[in-house]
Amino acid sequence: MKHLRPQAKACAAMLILLAGCNRPAKTPAPLAAKAFGAAITEVGGGKQVGSIGAALDQPVVVQVNDAQGSPVAGALVELHTAEGAMAAPDAGLTGADGQLTSTVTLGGSAGRYQIAATTRDKSGKPVELRLDEIALGYQQQQGRVLNDQYCARCHDPESTPERVSNHDNLTAKPHAFIEGAVLNAMSDADLASIIGFGGPALNKSPEMPPYGYTLKKADVDALIAYIRAVADPPYRLKGLTYAKN
Ligand code: HEC
Repeated sequence: MKHLRPQAKACAAMLILLAGCNRPAKTPAPLAAKAFGAAITEVGGGKQVGSIGAALDQPVVVQVNDAQGSPVAGALVELHTAEGAMAAPDAGLTGADGQLTSTVTLGGSAGRYQIAATTRDKSGKPVELRLDEIALGYQQQQGRVLNDQYCARCHDPESTPERVSNHDNLTAKPHAFIEGAVLNAMSDADLASIIGFGGPALNKSPEMPPYGYTLKKADVDALIAYIRAVADPPYRLKGLTYAKN
């Protein structure tokens, strides 16, 4: 695929305008299925937030099961990524555990990337699973770093080995920034106010501290860009890149 990359990038750019782009014919996968399943499920690796052009931290792992839900070894799985993104391998046979593991590298534009994992049942009918990943651009990535530094200890209810979450000690419960249902309803101006002046700026709890003395405007803008990028459901459909089949 290396020699196709400039074309792939051009396609990714054009996708937004045309919602379609012909990819040069691929040489057929030299793999043949040894077994067939009835379903394909995600074991892990979906809904990750990564950086443009970089490999995701966690591999994508999918599993093929038979009609009874038992893993099927030797089933062929193909991974179709959106233009500009890559899966390595992009096809393979499931192991003894019924699973296929692949490393996904995101494309060069910020936004959402869909990965389609397809296997075929005995009759040859495709069975498909779709995973969504998020690629952060430069400003959004800066926002992510600031979030880890200043915000996550209250806004992320999950504790990590490096950081104990303060979420449960707060009377007013802050929302995780992926909670699009809440955060998408707030305008950029409201986000800037509450971040700069604290909770009371929006008649909310003073447990949300003011960051206007600590953060520059560019930092606040980066945080807002990050909050918009990770929202689920998405803040705007703009930038959604679909997998090609
Ligand atoms: C000390 C804990 C704490 C920290 C640190 C903190 N927040 Fe908050 N935040 C809160 C609380 C509590 C609320 C909810 C206030 C309410 O609903 O009355 C809140 C609310 C918000 C809201 C409104 C949406 C929501 O979650 O209800 C935004 C946006 C927000 N914070 C952004 C940030 C950003 C950006 C940072 C880092 C720069 C940050 N917060 C750091 C405690 C915190």
